[in-house]
Amino acid sequence: MAQRGVIVITGASSGIGEACAQRLGALGFDVFAAVRSDSAFERVGAAGGGVRPLKLDITDAESIAAAASEVSAAGDGRLAGLVNNAGIAVSAPLEFIPIEELRHQLEVNVVGQVAVTQAMLGMLRTARGRVVNVSSIGGIVAAPMLGAYAASKFALEGISDALRRELRPWGIGVSVVEPGAISTPIWDKGAAVADGLLERAPAATTELYGPVIETMRAGAEQAARDGLPPSAVADVVAHALTSSRPRTRYLVGREAKSRAAMSRLLPDRVFDALIARALRWR
Ligand SMILES: NC(=O)c1ccc[n+]([C@@H]2O[C@H](COP(=O)([O-])OP(=O)(O)OC[C@H]3O[C@@H](n4cnc5c(N)ncnc54)[C@H](OP(=O)(O)O)[C@@H]3O)[C@@H](O)[C@H]2O)c1
Repeated sequence: MAQRGVIVITGASSGIGEACAQRLGALGFDVFAAVRSDSAFERVGAAGGGVRPLKLDITDAESIAAAASEVSAAGDGRLAGLVNNAGIAVSAPLEFIPIEELRHQLEVNVVGQVAVTQAMLGMLRTARGRVVNVSSIGGIVAAPMLGAYAASKFALEGISDALRRELRPWGIGVSVVEPGAISTPIWDKGAAVADGLLERAPAATTELYGPVIETMRAGAEQAARDGLPPSAVADVVAHALTSSRPRTRYLVGREAKSRAAMSRLLPDRVFDALIARALRWR
């Protein structure tokens, strides 16, 4: 076991999770990078750098139990940190989103995070470890077409607050990380899911929401291209896990900070009008 202890990061096959795994491995932690596919497992295994792969699908109870026992065996029942990062983004108007897609969004981004946390909490308590939940600016400001994603991240914000207050007696810290646009594969994956949903959707979806869907698509392409690098999030995750005074919330990036400030300061209807104007949406 590395001196700084064992860390588990979910959704570490790409993007933010992968960057966090590399950063924390370089800081001397013994990092379990949790992935789903065989190819990602092999890639992480071959990379080294204090990072080892762990098979974990956060929607599968058996997979979670197996991962937890592997981590416990490696860390002597102690876990210094859990980074709940795995996530997906489902984009569709709430009027037409298939209910099973809404459920899936919440299953991955909310229920899965709690299930993994439950499985690891005994080890976190023994080590007085910390939890870092990767939320989003979407957990503070709900964008149109991203209602399902916003629901999942608003829920994760509430769960993080409750968890932090519940775990206070044991000194287990809980921090939430709220990035704005980060350049990762989530944007392309989200666009592919949105395209698939649109193909199956009733014609009224495009008739009613076509223009705003197009504007959001262009915004997603721009975010994938011009977003901050995932290392910007890895910086704050490292702070949350190593600082003697970790913050409860970390907004990442200028865009996230200014949107959060606007939502705090502006009356709802003024903010609604600004969002509508930015999206050229009536
Ligand atoms: N990129 C942004 O602009 C941004 C902004 C704010 C917040 N975030 C949040 O940051 C987190 C990481 O996203 P990212 O941008 O780095 O996207 P990403 O590169 O697509 O990474 C998402 C990760 O989650 C994993 N995952 C998805 N479903 C899973 C499941 N059922 N079980 C286990 N792992 C699962 C994916 O694994 P597979 O490779 O197997 O699919 C992948 O490793 C997410 O929670 C996202 O909401 C991202």
